[in-house]
Amino acid sequence: MNGKHNSILLFILMAAVLSFPVCISASVPSELTSGPFGKLDSKEEVKFFTLKNKNGIEVKLIPYGAAIVSLKVPDKNGKSADIVLGYDDLQGFVNDTSYFGCIVGRCTNRIANACFKLDGKEYKLTANDGKNHLHGGLKGFNKMLWQASELRTKNYSCVVFKYLSPDGQEGYPGNLRVTVTYTLTDNDKLKIGYEATTDRETIVNLTSHSYFNLAGQDSGDVLNQVMMINADNYTPMENHIPTGEIRKVAGTGLDFRKPVAIGRGIKKVGGYDHNFVLNKSALGELSLAARVADPVSGRVMEVFTTEPAVQLYTCNFNGSVKGKGGRAYKGHSSFCLETQHFPDSPNKPYFPSTVLKPGEVYRQLTVYKFSVQ
Ligand code: GLA
Repeated sequence: MNGKHNSILLFILMAAVLSFPVCISASVPSELTSGPFGKLDSKEEVKFFTLKNKNGIEVKLIPYGAAIVSLKVPDKNGKSADIVLGYDDLQGFVNDTSYFGCIVGRCTNRIANACFKLDGKEYKLTANDGKNHLHGGLKGFNKMLWQASELRTKNYSCVVFKYLSPDGQEGYPGNLRVTVTYTLTDNDKLKIGYEATTDRETIVNLTSHSYFNLAGQDSGDVLNQVMMINADNYTPMENHIPTGEIRKVAGTGLDFRKPVAIGRGIKKVGGYDHNFVLNKSALGELSLAARVADPVSGRVMEVFTTEPAVQLYTCNFNGSVKGKGGRAYKGHSSFCLETQHFPDSPNKPYFPSTVLKPGEVYRQLTVYKFSVQ
């Protein structure tokens, strides 16, 4: 080959290299549609929003509880199934006591004795779990009608939910403005972005409470689904309240460092409802929290989060909850991976802080990435 040929070849090669990143970075926005979902007793209309990407992943959202109603994901043969528990209609979500699919707030999980101190002042919260406060109280963010809007950019479609939690609601100080943004990307990531600001010092700890079953919401238990949780440690609890210790998972039924069937250690712990301390090199870093695979359908879900912890809950109820299609959801028919700050953080000053001050912005990002194997 002569020099002229060489330079032509080099030119073609450089052109290919330069244009390649442009090709792979351009994302195609998901299809975004909406329609009526139902009406509340207050006569307020509730719409649904559907995001669908080019690979057939489809998520349906409602502003009541800023909730995920359904999440359809193809399996290894391209067959789609709805992989989250829930209800067919609005009334189901209104009556729900299991937090199916919703955003939980102002503080997820438990706060001991339903009280905490901030800046020397004691605040009393609603006690709705014995003497403790759970998942934001009697009427948490899951029971609120959020304001909804659609956002379309060149590469993404998003559904944005906003809610203003007034000062004193359920005992919390400060007007808290919350925004939750759902984005479905063409590389099969469902992103939930959270933001909140306050006008008075307060506490905030938000999560998304979907119950997943990678084989399909109506397919029985999840005991054979294989889970990895990127956590060397957990927070031991007494009556669901952290004792304050951080203990190693090694040698316990909570050791998910290597992928294991969810059912393997479940008897030992009597159903999972535990807070795992995620391995991170820095607080707030977006990193892998968990990976779950269903050996039958081949569906895989990876969870990435900026949060320091994740609560694994294995739907420890008894079949009394009736969901989609009137199906009675049995114990262990799903798992929740609630990305969060540690339970009872407001009373444990050495846990990562849940305090939000005026002028600061609370931010959280959790990403669910789907694939097949
Ligand atoms: C969390 C809690 C559980 C339970 C579920 C929802 O996971 O830790 O105890 O309240 O939510 O029912």
